[in-house]
Amino acid sequence: MKLSKRLQAIADLIVKYKQGEILADIGTDHAYLPCYLVSEDIIDKAYACDIASGPINASIETIQLYHLEKQVIPLLGSGMNPILDKDVDMISICGMGGKLTVDILDEHREFLNHHRFILQANIGLEILREYLYKQNMKIIDESIVKDAQHIYEIIVCEKTDDMIAYQEEDFYFGPCLRKNKKGLFYEKWHRQLEIQKGILNSLEEQHPRYHEIMHLITMIEGEISGS
Ligand SMILES: C[S@@+](CC[C@H](N)C(=O)[O-])C[C@H]1O[C@@H](n2cnc3c(N)ncnc32)[C@H](O)[C@@H]1O
Repeated sequence: MKLSKRLQAIADLIVKYKQGEILADIGTDHAYLPCYLVSEDIIDKAYACDIASGPINASIETIQLYHLEKQVIPLLGSGMNPILDKDVDMISICGMGGKLTVDILDEHREFLNHHRFILQANIGLEILREYLYKQNMKIIDESIVKDAQHIYEIIVCEKTDDMIAYQEEDFYFGPCLRKNKKGLFYEKWHRQLEIQKGILNSLEEQHPRYHEIMHLITMIEGEISGS
């Protein structure tokens, strides 16, 4: 089974930071990630969860195609509700916005205490990282991948008893990604810099977002200076 580059990068991080044998994939769509992980014997069992019946039916098709009915269980429901009574070691929430990911995490905060999470938000990563920080969820590792012209960031995190010291820059650029800046990191933020400058040029100085965008531009310039 071949995954997209984005899903493969998520699977690679799951291999690296695997905890236990059971994964719940929230917002699974076609259940590609859980089916891959089980068919490659990376985990024993997965719950493929989705809020909508279309994706659950698509999941059932993938499960049947790869004969994984005993190991990949489709569950219909919102967020982590379908796994409230299930034994789960790891939880992945990928391919949504940062705000929606936060809403899903916050609805059942009890899950944050005992599970390792693999998160990939398409937008609003700063919202997600700030939430994790407020919940004392330590970002253990991050990776960055380019797939079909989009650059995606993936986060592995879990609760810690230690104090976490983050700066605002960590929320935007990722505490692990900015420690070990790679080509894709610079590509993403050079691109963002141009986008934000374009937005700034279109705004009057009195616009409520003007100073916010200025601040972001200054942060990006500081982060990529010397590249
Ligand atoms: C863009 S797809 C991402 C699929 C897959 N996780 C990936 O990364 O390729 C988002 C999926 O999340 C589902 N979804 C949206 N809101 C959800 C929620 N509150 N709870 C569970 N699933 C949700 C949608 O139905 C859709 O199938």
